[in-house]
Amino acid sequence: MNPERHIFAVNAVEISPPTVMAPMAGVTDAPFRRMVKQNHCGLVCSEMISSNGLCQNSGKTVQMVHHSISEKPLSIQIFGAKPDYMARAASMVEEAGADILDINFGCSVKKVVKTGAGAALMKDLKAAAAVIKAVRRAVAVPLTIKIRTGWEPSGNEAVALCQMAQDLGVDAVCVHPRTAGQGFSGHADWSVIRRVRQHISIPVIGNGDILNAEDAVAMMKRTGCDGVMIGRGAMVNPLIFAQIRALLQGLAVPKEDTAQRFAAIRTYAGQMSEFYGEDHACRLMRSRLGWLLKGMPRASWFRSAAACLKSMAETHALLKDYEQQLADGFRTKDSIK
Ligand SMILES: Cc1cc2nc3c(=O)[nH]c(=O)nc-3n(C[C@H](O)[C@H](O)[C@H](O)COP(=O)(O)O)c2cc1C
Repeated sequence: MNPERHIFAVNAVEISPPTVMAPMAGVTDAPFRRMVKQNHCGLVCSEMISSNGLCQNSGKTVQMVHHSISEKPLSIQIFGAKPDYMARAASMVEEAGADILDINFGCSVKKVVKTGAGAALMKDLKAAAAVIKAVRRAVAVPLTIKIRTGWEPSGNEAVALCQMAQDLGVDAVCVHPRTAGQGFSGHADWSVIRRVRQHISIPVIGNGDILNAEDAVAMMKRTGCDGVMIGRGAMVNPLIFAQIRALLQGLAVPKEDTAQRFAAIRTYAGQMSEFYGEDHACRLMRSRLGWLLKGMPRASWFRSAAACLKSMAETHALLKDYEQQLADGFRTKDSIK
């Protein structure tokens, strides 16, 4: 491991800084990806996209593939269990201009697992091989897989799947070291990332429980991973990528800067409105503002106020009011308790 290396590559796609925004359903849509990209994230990923939905031309699913040049490099993740559907979906994603195609082997949600997709593929190497082979044959774009520890905690399933994936032409793997049964609870076992790193030669992206820049560098040092992927930590603090970049460059980690955080949220709100239209964006912002300001003083007051937002003007007014009250130590307003 060499945390001084500020770059890694997935085949020909260079990723610098070596940070990746985790694919997250209901979170990493185009406006969110643009926000983290503006804050120095090396690679952004789409939400998981159903291969069945793409093959059936479902309008909502097809819209999830849309992106802009400002998000590049962009990885688009698909899931499914049927090799022919996965191959067709992969071609559609390649045609849409994705820089990297990712296959989901980690989703442990019942609805997905019972179709044989996501984490179900980790206990059926033959089915996993059929999916990877079909997709690899269908596209030339760099291919990655995102996996979990597996169904039991040793990490043997992760190592076996990654070795096979490498042999089948996968260009990099991402390891979230929790078992399928764990969901998102308990702790990520970073030793599984280290084991995978020791058994394959393609890049390994480590994921799980990175909440600040120090955690990111610690994961790189402890596991030897080539890049780090951040999920929930970036939902709360989208500036984490700039902080990791500074630490990797040997600079002081920029302090939590409230003004910068609010500036990022305002830009995000604007992009949401542009992407979804004002009404839909406001409905989405009601919960999203809650997670973006998690941990801030009087956040529960803010969440209740955000739950009633009806327009972008109201959204911006609420943000302005809250930011001002925050600066004043909440001395001047009775309503914020
Ligand atoms: C709300 C939510 C949605 C997620 N959606 C996806 C997804 O669509 N595809 C995927 O591979 N992983 C998904 N994940 C898992 C994350 O990508 C990541 O592996 C996990 O959150 C662990 O990283 P963290 O500890 O940095 O959050 C999701 C996680 C959460 C909390």
